[in-house]
Amino acid sequence: MITKRMSLDPEAVSVRDLDEAGRILREGGLVVFPTETVYGLGGNALDASASQKIYAAKGRPSDNPLIVHIAKPEDAERFAIVSDAYRVLASAFMPGPLTVILPKKDIVPVQTTGGLSSVAIRCPSHPVAHALIEASGVPIAAPSANLSGKPSPTCADDVAEDMDGRVDLILDGGPSEIGLESTIVSLLGPVPTLLRPGAVTYDALCCVLPRVEIAPAVTGQLSPDEPVLSPGLKYRHYSPNAPCVLLDGNADEVLRFLIRAQSGSNCAILCYDEEIPALTDQRLFPVGKREDLSAQAHMLFAQLRAADRSGADVIYAHLPPREGLGLALYNRMIRAAAHTVKHIENPQ
Ligand code: TXA
Ligand code: MG
Repeated sequence: MITKRMSLDPEAVSVRDLDEAGRILREGGLVVFPTETVYGLGGNALDASASQKIYAAKGRPSDNPLIVHIAKPEDAERFAIVSDAYRVLASAFMPGPLTVILPKKDIVPVQTTGGLSSVAIRCPSHPVAHALIEASGVPIAAPSANLSGKPSPTCADDVAEDMDGRVDLILDGGPSEIGLESTIVSLLGPVPTLLRPGAVTYDALCCVLPRVEIAPAVTGQLSPDEPVLSPGLKYRHYSPNAPCVLLDGNADEVLRFLIRAQSGSNCAILCYDEEIPALTDQRLFPVGKREDLSAQAHMLFAQLRAADRSGADVIYAHLPPREGLGLALYNRMIRAAAHTVKHIENPQ
């Protein structure tokens, strides 16, 4: 298949610019589109065969459900049984980087929900995503637009690396502002449960809901016999080809470790900006200042891909803090590193 590419200015996009993209979706094709979190690989959520095409294009197991993207929070009622908690979350955080799991209505095919009786609903704030949903006239099922097991793409070039020849059209709307996938909250049980941390932080959720639980898989390693609340959590995820090792410990000791690692091995380093002067620029991939978690979220996946392309034998990165947006960074990095953390205690 030949993949077309189209650039759009998010500041000036209109629904008319997306006539062709909307038609492709209505006819069962696949369109990659930018969102404020990461790029999505979209198909008509109400068309079972479009959902199957999405799984095939990603190389993803078809029991891993897709997120249904809608233009307005109220549209959720057509596809899901909404509750008061949904309305509270919608008025606080939608449109924006939040996905909510609700019981699904029959109109949504089980092919879209990976066989589940629940559905993930998200109303993105990105103007191109919004215009695309309006132009197509259908809800858009979209996972992140990476091949299964790769970091989510945050720019059109990273999308093309994975999806060229696999989709009908790639819409280029520039780099994704946030850079990490949406926060996912399940409203299926008695207490709202955070399944995937993102830019809508745990603290922000707790400001509007009386109680929020955190699913154990957010920070921990799942044992094979544990029940999985979100099927996506059980798959190897965000993983570069080279092994990734997270470094934990005193900032000076970690930097000394990195300096030694650069002279003794074929490593790539995802470093903080403050560390640049002490390191050589060989395979060095800065992710922002140590305290600037938003910058790190924005840069992380693109730099992880770049580090991987550099042909390093190993990728070193810092273990993120677990507070605020740090929890989302921690959750992604711990998966990229397959839970490999090196504690730097003493100089070796
Ligand atoms: O920011 C985002 O959420 C991006 C953009 C494109 O919107 N999308 C995204 O989709 O990250 P994906 O498929 O890569 O991740 C969706 C996650 C998966 O882990 C999946 O298992 C979970 O959402 N999920 C979807 N439907 C679910 C459901 N009914 N119950 C539990 N988890 C669900
Ligand atoms: Mg994904």
